[in-house]
Amino acid sequence: MAKIPNDIDSTLTLLAENDYVADRSLATALYLALSLQKPLFLEGEAGVGKTEIARVLSESLKRPLIRLQCYEGLDAATAVYEWNYARQMLEIRLQEASGSSDREKLADDIFDERFLIERPLLQAIRTGDNSTAPVLLIDELDRTDEPFEAYLLEILSDFQITIPELGTIKAASPPIVIITSNRTREIHDALKRRCFYHWVDYPDAIRELEILAVKAPNIPETLSAQIVSFVQKLREHDLFKVPGVAETIDWAHALTQLDCMGLDSNIISDTVGALLKYQDDIERIKGSEASRILDEVRAEIAIAGVEE
Ligand SMILES: Nc1ncnc2c1ncn2[C@@H]1O[C@H](COP(=O)(O)OP(=O)(O)OP(=O)(O)O)[C@@H](O)[C@H]1O
Ligand SMILES: [Mg+2]
Repeated sequence: MAKIPNDIDSTLTLLAENDYVADRSLATALYLALSLQKPLFLEGEAGVGKTEIARVLSESLKRPLIRLQCYEGLDAATAVYEWNYARQMLEIRLQEASGSSDREKLADDIFDERFLIERPLLQAIRTGDNSTAPVLLIDELDRTDEPFEAYLLEILSDFQITIPELGTIKAASPPIVIITSNRTREIHDALKRRCFYHWVDYPDAIRELEILAVKAPNIPETLSAQIVSFVQKLREHDLFKVPGVAETIDWAHALTQLDCMGLDSNIISDTVGALLKYQDDIERIKGSEASRILDEVRAEIAIAGVEE
């Protein structure tokens, strides 16, 4: 069982050992969330490494990862717990067949642990002891409805869940909670207040190069410099959806697969689908605009080369 890091530097190291390149502000937020036992609320654009943080934490701290993927209409029965109605009915039939007529005993019997189906949130509260509390990932919270957020409040403030028929269940030790949101809507203040908040931004060029170095280690150095510079410039364009880090990595893999050693306008046109996922964006960038950006990229890299 790995220990919770005891300062910001060891948090950075822990993430780096598991191929996650974090900047200091993210490592600080994570360190504080871990040491103060508060949920970490990560908001940011798509593909910037929000979900990955939870995966890396679970791996590096050797804790089980319990994931709740949010969507519109998510309710307590899917997120917290549900009674197994089919098995409860069967129990009723069996007891009736055996001639039992004590209704109170029957009610006690069917609202028993045996008929409880644990969903991720209850699982997270009940898994592990003091040293093995799991990592609970509540992914894309902005996709749920507000009533569900209200439900989360009890869980996040006291790490407990009340089941009317069974009573209140409290975590032996609080799970490590990571909540992510793509900000398609604002999450309520009451929930944010219970968390440590961090906005995950697109990485700067230096950090994106470091990410490529760990996620696509086999590509030539010049090509990765070109890729990162090209993507960084694309992000300055007014596109419907600018590429995230995930797209940078995908593009690098696509170019390697094609044995590309350096960017040119043809290869950009042929592979732009790894970077941009909307036809309008592709139309805007393909052709002359791609060549123009590429010229800037080459000039920038040439200047950097001279300066070195
Ligand atoms: N800082 C980073 N270090 C290493 N890998 C990263 C980093 N940021 C992103 N990645 C990689 O980018 C990919 C996308 O990351 P992830 O799925 O966590 O993004 P996300 O922010 O959750 O996106 P979405 O909002 O679309 O769910 C993953 O493969 C991850 O490994
Ligand atoms: Mg995600």
